[in-house]
Amino acid sequence: NRPKLGPSPFKIPSDLPELPEVPGTDPTRSVLDSFRIAIAKTVADGLEPLTVEQVYQGVDYGKKGEDFTVALPRFRLPGKIDELAKKVIDKFQPNEWIESVTHDKAFLHFKCRTSTLTRLILDQIHALTYDTESKQPEYGSNSLGEGKRVVIEYSSPNIAKSFHVGHLRSTIIGAFLANLYRACGWEVISLNYLGDWGTQFGLIASGFEKYGSKEALEKNAIQHLLEIYVKVNADAEKDPKVREDAAAWFKRMEDGDEEALRNWREWRELSIRKYEEEYARLNVRFDEYTGESKVSPKTMASALEKLQEMGLIEEDNGALRVNLEEYKLGKAVVRKRDGTSIYLTRDIGAAIERYEKYKFDKMIYVVAAQQDLHLAQFFKVLQLMGYDWANNLEHVNYGLVLGMSTRKGTVVFLDQIIREAASVMHEQMRKNEDKYNAIEDPENVATEIGITGVKIQDMAAKRINNYNFNWDRMLSFEGDTGPYLQYAHVRLSSIERKNPELLPLPAPSQLKTELLVEPQAREITFLLGSYPDAVKTALKTHEPSGIVTFAFRLSHAISSAWETVIVKGEEDKEKAKARMALYLSARDVLGAALRLLSIRPLQRM
Ligand code: ARG
Repeated sequence: NRPKLGPSPFKIPSDLPELPEVPGTDPTRSVLDSFRIAIAKTVADGLEPLTVEQVYQGVDYGKKGEDFTVALPRFRLPGKIDELAKKVIDKFQPNEWIESVTHDKAFLHFKCRTSTLTRLILDQIHALTYDTESKQPEYGSNSLGEGKRVVIEYSSPNIAKSFHVGHLRSTIIGAFLANLYRACGWEVISLNYLGDWGTQFGLIASGFEKYGSKEALEKNAIQHLLEIYVKVNADAEKDPKVREDAAAWFKRMEDGDEEALRNWREWRELSIRKYEEEYARLNVRFDEYTGESKVSPKTMASALEKLQEMGLIEEDNGALRVNLEEYKLGKAVVRKRDGTSIYLTRDIGAAIERYEKYKFDKMIYVVAAQQDLHLAQFFKVLQLMGYDWANNLEHVNYGLVLGMSTRKGTVVFLDQIIREAASVMHEQMRKNEDKYNAIEDPENVATEIGITGVKIQDMAAKRINNYNFNWDRMLSFEGDTGPYLQYAHVRLSSIERKNPELLPLPAPSQLKTELLVEPQAREITFLLGSYPDAVKTALKTHEPSGIVTFAFRLSHAISSAWETVIVKGEEDKEKAKARMALYLSARDVLGAALRLLSIRPLQRM
């Protein structure tokens, strides 16, 4: 009884030539599917016994100037390519879907009928954005994951240690994936798996007696705990007794001693509360805050027992380990000599408990590539234990961020990153005094754009790439940056304010969209039509960069149209209205792409 998407409020109009259905496509959410089907049909009609479905798989986006391309050799048909191409072209009749087909070497190039394209795409975007009755997820969404549930774990910082850039990347990429899976019809459960257990808490417990302050804790738990941790670590360097003390504390915690646990519980609560505020600032949320401390010792013990029964465990000097050399994954220690649990064992236990609780169809861990081996090891252990669901675990990894610091020094807290982004952005905005004075709430706007800059820089390239953190570059209004995207959205949003005489604008189906004949307008339209494909591709690759690239391409196309495809000053009111509808659709789709990236699109700046 998992939620189901209702039917889309958009239907392909019946005055168009009818097309066959192709499994895996959904023209009611992605109009370009129809054009691809029409192309596939054209080719299949000319090249029997090829089927529409077979050809459909080979309809690709064309290069600049062409809409779609089919590479004929892929069908491995007998006969010369030129003759095959000729057969298709001879049989082809221009229609309301396809305007023309041309042949170049091994390729057939197709051009979609512009009037149909414009009308359907604008209409579809409008229906999926403004039909509130059907409660549809917005344009770009699909139903691929209908009835399926995914657990996504991301961010997962360590309490009492610093929140480093690696955690920030996990947060940003994870939030994107959660939005993406939701947009693809999956039920998503998002988890924050805190590093809230381990010997460092023994250290803090003993240090708290000496350095702790209730007041400082209430004010900023994350900061205060790290301060204590640093101080008590320094003490431990000098005096070995400190570590013994800490070990004794942690032992009491592991044994469930209420008194030892009481403080720890409060630290955890207060840290989470503080984190929640910061995540909210970042437009990120979690369904559940869990953590290493929540993994039940029982689960871990019975997992170890099972591994032992299966003969997978070998002993090494009192420690227990699983030999994974056969899989080139080394030897994974699952229990230390002193019997305390470790990171790996907690992950094994956590996965088992999560499956029991959520019965997920898939579980994704967004964790730095530095932990590739760790994840591969515990995935393998779970597979060896015979859990079918272990094959549905996926590690989404990412590279390093180099050189993130603030002007005051090294970054250790998430709120430092947010504040620095806001203040660098604020200075940037002040350089243009007139504009700056016109902004209603400059602080807030600066923070929002600053965060956008950080996120876009983070998601602009393939996840696995390392990148250099550069405040100036990411917070510039020029070049492919977050501020540039926000600016593009704001500019589109201003159209309604600047042209009130054209409002209220009827739905695109009531407008003369056939007046949108400029190549710049067509380019925007086609890009808008391709957005649902960008979403599907991102689901396959788990790469946010495809959506970022889409947002830049769209913004560039809009800025190229701005001078020629004018609204204000256009005498023909019908034309002006059609153009306005185009720009508003562009605003809606750019907004959808930004939201998918967890960014809040601004209306004004
Ligand atoms: N807290 C860990 C760290 O900061 C990351 C946790 C990753 N998730 C996991 N299930 N191991 O390194």
